[in-house]
Amino acid sequence: MAQTLIDRKRTLPGATLPILHDLLEQFGYIDDAAIPLIADALNISRAEALGVVSFYHDFRRSPVDGRVLKLCRAESCQAMGCEDLVSHLAVRHGVTVDGLDEGSGIRVESVYCLGNCALSPAALLDGEPIGRLDRDRLDALVAGAQRKMQ
Ligand code: FES
Repeated sequence: MAQTLIDRKRTLPGATLPILHDLLEQFGYIDDAAIPLIADALNISRAEALGVVSFYHDFRRSPVDGRVLKLCRAESCQAMGCEDLVSHLAVRHGVTVDGLDEGSGIRVESVYCLGNCALSPAALLDGEPIGRLDRDRLDALVAGAQRKMQ
């Protein structure tokens, strides 16, 4: 399946990113086994392919166990309290933003401006936009993610 996705776009100019996006969409992460396939298909070194994957935060390299919350930490969201939400996640739920998600049911990742500044603090939960995120709503999201894990 990965090879099919890679072959589909290998001749595009700048094919690396479109291929990685397709793999991410299909599998939810970029498996290490895909790196040599990409390198061979694009005639680049494995180090180059790995460098692209490592450079972009969105190309996670392991499967996520649970839900993914992308929390905006850019200027508007900072002004509206996103850093308080980061602290609240750590203190109340033991969830470290950009940390490992082992057993928590939710992985929280930093992003920098989702283009939804009017509804700061903004986030995406499994790709769905959330505006005016606050502690109560965050508590409900984490509780819901943890229930799904049980
Ligand atoms: S600064 Fe957070 S959505 Fe723009």
